[in-house]
Amino acid sequence: MFAKSTFVAFLALASSVSAGGLSLNLRTSYNFGCSSSIKAKATTPQRDSCSSSGSFFTEYQGNPLCVSSSTRTPPPSDLTCPFNWGSHKTAKCCVPETEVSPCDCGEGYTFNSNEKKCVANHGGGCGQDQWYHDRSSSCCDNSWHWSPPTGPCPKGITCPTDWFWHKDHQKCKPHHPRSPEPDCDDWDQKNQCCGGGGSGPSQGVSGGSWKRNFKAREQIALFPQSNLDKMYCPSPLHACTVPTTTGGEWSYECIDFETELESCGGCASTGEGVDCTKIPNVLGVGCESGVCAVYTCEAGFAANGTECVAI
Ligand SMILES: *[C@@H]1O[C@H](CO)[C@@H](O)[C@H](O)[C@H]1NC(C)=O
Repeated sequence: MFAKSTFVAFLALASSVSAGGLSLNLRTSYNFGCSSSIKAKATTPQRDSCSSSGSFFTEYQGNPLCVSSSTRTPPPSDLTCPFNWGSHKTAKCCVPETEVSPCDCGEGYTFNSNEKKCVANHGGGCGQDQWYHDRSSSCCDNSWHWSPPTGPCPKGITCPTDWFWHKDHQKCKPHHPRSPEPDCDDWDQKNQCCGGGGSGPSQGVSGGSWKRNFKAREQIALFPQSNLDKMYCPSPLHACTVPTTTGGEWSYECIDFETELESCGGCASTGEGVDCTKIPNVLGVGCESGVCAVYTCEAGFAANGTECVAI
């Protein structure tokens, strides 16, 4: 069995949020969990109310804020949040789905980590009918939303989702400020388009990811990791709630459902898994591919494979 502390380092691998907003890196996930010194400010009732599966504390203006399924709600219309984020019911700021999350506000916005919301970019000396696009350090016309000056894309080049090929600039441009960050594998920052960097690397990438997916599929076929599991545990382990008698914030351990004797085939804490050691009259028992395997039994009983039956 793995101890929770083993995985603290794993979570810390994700980049942290920098003070001046997030970088223009693509497909980056950030750790929105709060530091232990901020978390220490949480009162016992706050910790107790943050104990459901997947709950975590994030920092909001110097204080811990519990993010859980009961504090998260869809963002109201006057709050712009990163895609797939919700808002906090009482703090009225944006909160992510999971502790480590992507943070994409759209190309015309920057995430303000202090206020925890997306704010429209200013600067660049753009005109009244324009918005500033940080990634290309240029101004985009509002009218591109409804009448983009689209031209035919050169061979081998594509534009990201909700972007278009601008016939005069000869670059991909976002349709509007909420166009997401480029979602292609081969974004070319210099030329502002997908592809166009030669065929070699993109061939390599697709071959590589196929192999990786194939291997991963083989390993996780029996008990696939949920998004929550992926967040907190290395593959192929599952995050199981550790019951505590004293309450407090959510704690978990990482379990291999295929072999874990006390959580065989699922989390023992949710009742989905079986604690093989609790099978009546059992002596020798194992967890094989998520099923308890009974080898030996106490005197007067015989193992029939899954149970001890009286003889
Ligand atoms: C073992 O015995 C129990 C109780 O009689 C029965 O339900 C179960 O199917 C048996 N298992 C096998 C593998 O025969």
